[in-house]
Amino acid sequence: MSTPHIDAGPGAIAETVLLPGDPLRARFIAQTVLDDPLQVTARRNMLGFTGRWQGRPVTVMGGGMGIPSTAIYVTELARVYGVRRIIRIGTCGGLGEANLGDVLLAQSASTDSRFNRMQFGDHDLSVCADFGLLRAAVDAAVVQGVPVRVAPVFSSDCFYDGDPQLLDRLRRHRIAGIEMEAAGLYGLAMREGFRALAILTVSDHIDRGEQMPADQREQGLERMARLALACTEGAD
Ligand code: HPA
Repeated sequence: MSTPHIDAGPGAIAETVLLPGDPLRARFIAQTVLDDPLQVTARRNMLGFTGRWQGRPVTVMGGGMGIPSTAIYVTELARVYGVRRIIRIGTCGGLGEANLGDVLLAQSASTDSRFNRMQFGDHDLSVCADFGLLRAAVDAAVVQGVPVRVAPVFSSDCFYDGDPQLLDRLRRHRIAGIEMEAAGLYGLAMREGFRALAILTVSDHIDRGEQMPADQREQGLERMARLALACTEGAD
């Protein structure tokens, strides 16, 4: 069993997948928070690891950057490996009141990508987080003492340039963060029938030109991973 982009064997991928963008972050998370992590896929160096968390199997795998890359992995995980929950853990640029290091739970994801429109007759698809995962993440944040904000985010296809008025439009609509994957993940969740949530740490502030130092990024990653794991507890 394998797909064009994932070479894990049958049963090697858990029903719950944590999906950072960077495969080396996937390895860091697997080695930091999972018991007995084993590398299960490495095609194109997009590393994936399966281990156990509180006795339950969990996979952590990189998804790359942007909706097209994320969509390839997510589609194959859902269709071929039967994955039922995908929690993106990543970073975003903060807007407005968001502060560096804040954790956003992406309730909805607007986008400039045509990815969902291509599947939906060019209509607007209102993509949003799975309510059960979102609620569980809020509950877990309270238990773990992690301040989180449930917020709308924006997934852009352009890291550089793009719509010169985009940031003003996002502020005008009180969107708290900008990243590049959540809208594709949420749209796929609706079409493929899995549960999805994006947990994002504000790694840089667009308005204030601030950036998080590397060591804090690592801490943020572990914090998101622990939230993501806790919110799969008892989920469906
Ligand atoms: N834009 C898009 N994606 C991001 C950003 C950003 O400013 N920061 C972290 N991920």
